[in-house]
Amino acid sequence: MNFDLKALDLSAAVAEKCDLLVVLVPEGFARAEDALSTLVAHALKNGDLQTKPGKSLHCYQVPAVAARRVILAGVGTGKPAAVRQALLGLAGALGTGAVKRAVVCFAGGGDASAVAAAVSAMFQASYVYTTSKPKAEARTLNRVVLGVADTAAVAEAFERSVAIATGVELAREWGNRPANYATPTLLAAAAKELAKSPNVQCKVMGPAEVAKLGMGAFMAVAQGAAEELRFIELRYNGAAKSQAPVVLVGKGITFDTGGISIKPAPEMDEMKFDMCGAASVLGVFRTLAELQPAINVVGLIAACENMPDGRAVKPGDVVTSMSGQTIEILNTDAEGRLVLCDALTYAARFKPAVMVDIATLTGACVIALGGVRSGMFASDDGLAAALLAAGEAAQDPCWRLPLDDDYAEGLKTNFADMANVAGRPGGAITAAKFLQRFAGEQPWAHLDIAGTAWKGGAAKGATGRPVGLLVHYLLQACTSDAPAVKATSKSTGRGARAKSGASRSA
Ligand code: BES
Ligand code: MN
Ligand code: ZN
Repeated sequence: MNFDLKALDLSAAVAEKCDLLVVLVPEGFARAEDALSTLVAHALKNGDLQTKPGKSLHCYQVPAVAARRVILAGVGTGKPAAVRQALLGLAGALGTGAVKRAVVCFAGGGDASAVAAAVSAMFQASYVYTTSKPKAEARTLNRVVLGVADTAAVAEAFERSVAIATGVELAREWGNRPANYATPTLLAAAAKELAKSPNVQCKVMGPAEVAKLGMGAFMAVAQGAAEELRFIELRYNGAAKSQAPVVLVGKGITFDTGGISIKPAPEMDEMKFDMCGAASVLGVFRTLAELQPAINVVGLIAACENMPDGRAVKPGDVVTSMSGQTIEILNTDAEGRLVLCDALTYAARFKPAVMVDIATLTGACVIALGGVRSGMFASDDGLAAALLAAGEAAQDPCWRLPLDDDYAEGLKTNFADMANVAGRPGGAITAAKFLQRFAGEQPWAHLDIAGTAWKGGAAKGATGRPVGLLVHYLLQACTSDAPAVKATSKSTGRGARAKSGASRSA
């Protein structure tokens, strides 16, 4: 999608030729003398338009206005959440084939955060999935102009939010693709595609290399599948080699049947979304490739299917992870932690400043937090604060959950160093405690996106979360004066080095 920023007030917007002009009307709208201002003022006065977000008035062939259709949409205070709500409410109008070129104009307000919200909402509202539905009408909205009073003031935020929206969209697209269109091999091909961009590299390992590394936990999950596993290593080098990277680790279960501990049939199709953590890593790299910030980032993806089979791992089997710790697999449906634990062990070789894993890990996290906030766990308070703040700034929020050692009691077993499941209580936390044993002393955080990575029901589809949160975190991490980004843990005694002293280039 072609997205441009332009200096426009309503008197200039009158002359914008387009299929649809959206005028975002804030509380306390200040009237001028042009045709659009008059239209807005009359509609407000006559009670046909309210400035409350979600309220709108649709007009056609307005005299003296060049746009074919005009939608006046209330944005209340003009805060990002209100702008977002207003534009997502117009998804119906934006998704129709008739709208190819749209202009969205702030009638007052329109600061950097409102612009960012408008960009992300416009991308989100006009996205159309077509990969396995080629007859669906593809996205027709291909040119959007965002009109603001002062382009210079918001230009940087605009560029950044277009790049983020592009990354979010890539994550959405891969999340949505069914398992037979998104195999581990195809995910690896998507990663290699990203490596065509400057400063991005990609290395892909198959079963032989993974066996050689001793990733026994990852291999155990994959052994029941006919589809081959892939271990994907992406690198973005935007800073000096001496700069320790942030390592992102994505769960890439391209389909989770549960394995021998098989899941019930209803809604099992949704387990095609079990690679949304991996998709978010791809999305982040898409954005990094676009923005070229001054940081180093490594992206690791452990991708395979979890299938029941004659060769599949069985409940009670004990496997040896890459770390040397043995694991009794009491439930083959707790497979995410098994692929992630070996990826976390592998991550240590990059001497990371910070490791963050992203996973659709537990149904328990959906029960705890629903679909609004992702679950966040961190071994370090500074890192937790930074992720929390990044989520708020990106409108992609998370919530910290605890890591008390008492929660790990249930992982004890007589037959291995640990079991892969504890009881049902606190299931999101016991999963995090399992992962923590593989993070070692390194600053580490875990994002459980089981509730936020996709929506069910009539609007079934991937959300592209938490690409926004992660990119905001990474961009914060590369400005040296950001206080809450550095890992501060007393337990590690090695502060994070995720700072560069250089600010990012756009
Ligand atoms: N991919 C699922 C988690 C999941 C379930 C996400 C439902 C979203 C909706 C994960 O692999 C899984 O099956 N987890 C089990 C763990 C349990 C066996 C300890 C779960 O949450 O039931
Ligand atoms: Mn599972
Ligand atoms: Zn899973």
